[in-house]
Amino acid sequence: MSTPIDTQRMEKIVSLCKRRGFIFQSSEIYGGLNGAWDYGPLGVELKRNLKNYWWRVMVHERDDVVGMDGAILTHPAVLKASGHVEGFSDPMIDCRTCKAHLRADQLVEKKGVKQCPNCGSKDLTEARQFNLMFETHVGAAAEESSVAYLRPETAQSIFVQFKNILEVSRKKLPFGIAQIGKAFRNEINPRNFTFRSREFEQMEVEYFCRPEQGMELLEYWKEERLKFYENIGISRERLNVKTVSDKERAFYSRGTYDIEYDFPFGPQELEGIAYRTAYDLKQHQDASGKSLEYFDDEKKERFIPHVVEPSAGVDRTILALICDAFAEDQAPDDKGKMESRIVLRLHPRIAPIKCAVFPLLKNKERLVAKAKEIVDLLRPHMFVFYDESGAIGRRYRRQDEIGTPFGVTVDFETLGEKDSKARDTVTLRERDSMKQERVGISDLLQLLSMRIA
Ligand code: GAP
Repeated sequence: MSTPIDTQRMEKIVSLCKRRGFIFQSSEIYGGLNGAWDYGPLGVELKRNLKNYWWRVMVHERDDVVGMDGAILTHPAVLKASGHVEGFSDPMIDCRTCKAHLRADQLVEKKGVKQCPNCGSKDLTEARQFNLMFETHVGAAAEESSVAYLRPETAQSIFVQFKNILEVSRKKLPFGIAQIGKAFRNEINPRNFTFRSREFEQMEVEYFCRPEQGMELLEYWKEERLKFYENIGISRERLNVKTVSDKERAFYSRGTYDIEYDFPFGPQELEGIAYRTAYDLKQHQDASGKSLEYFDDEKKERFIPHVVEPSAGVDRTILALICDAFAEDQAPDDKGKMESRIVLRLHPRIAPIKCAVFPLLKNKERLVAKAKEIVDLLRPHMFVFYDESGAIGRRYRRQDEIGTPFGVTVDFETLGEKDSKARDTVTLRERDSMKQERVGISDLLQLLSMRIA
């Protein structure tokens, strides 16, 4: 962990994201909206693959987790009870010289004196608390009684629906409720590309348990979540588990881990795993007057469950995936001369496009027809891209840059023109090793499905 800050690498990654349609600045043609991002054609595929895989592993492959999808507009009573209205704030300092609004922890300190990181001025205001929630009004009248908030985390709707979901799912402790969705925070200083945004997505599980299971489940979820990151192809050596100290932890938490990724701008949190005790359910029970207790049939006991929460950011994981996959190496051009290439070594499971299909020449009708037949064969099973324009080397390079793990080329051998034994075989090229093998069209679907799964 902890490589020096690599600004150049980050610039190349941001540029690739825009050039190839992964991520754009939101409202770009109007000058951009700070802290908001739009995902383009490839970014949206990458995001879907990540969320689908998370849902598969965290919900579908388990008997003890069910899903939900809560509203973004949130009743103020929910966020009063959770403590967000009072306490979800960051200390903010203004620079009187350049008028920047700064988070207190972003100041630079030189010879023991705090300075503005933008202009170096020491003329700074005292810190004051700035609430990060976005407030809005529901209905036609903008008065105090109509206030609602955009949720600052997906977790609270899970706690508020705990009783309904317990009843309909008939689960016994321990069990979890999972949710993927948007969250909004009016961050004082959004930065590091999508890393700290004002609108972002979370993937959270609230895993309810008996009080004596809390600490053990915290360890369990830490291991599960580390496995997840490895299974989407993030290298283990760039991941770090930080034990959050008593001082830094929320007062109600008995243990918290942060899973950090070593970004080019330094190691930063990808996911928090927190043992939150019974705090949230108790707060909502007290404030709403509705029982959020669980009845243990076997022990004949009634109590408020405790909860362990693995809470991951979709956008941060996407950024980590792209940073981890980004590489520059050497590859031969069409004449065999080595040239530098950019390659995204994304895990096939997560890659936006799984396979590109190329006819060797676009003006040979039989090659094109065969390539299109292969597209039709694969398309019901995976996202396939057809490309007939330009030299084959250039077409490979374009796919390497967006992380497509496999390329299939239809050539004259496929048509059986040189050797009838090679009829209906194609070249299958692997992105990272650039190795090519000859495979039968009839084997292609099974082979690719196995390698992508
Ligand atoms: N329910 C607990 C919770 O929300 P958090 O540590 O504040 O905890 C969880 O957020 C995850 O959400 C973070 O680890 C991060 O991945 C993501 N996240 C939080 N704030 C973010 C922001 N401003 N921009 C992008 N992702 C953010």
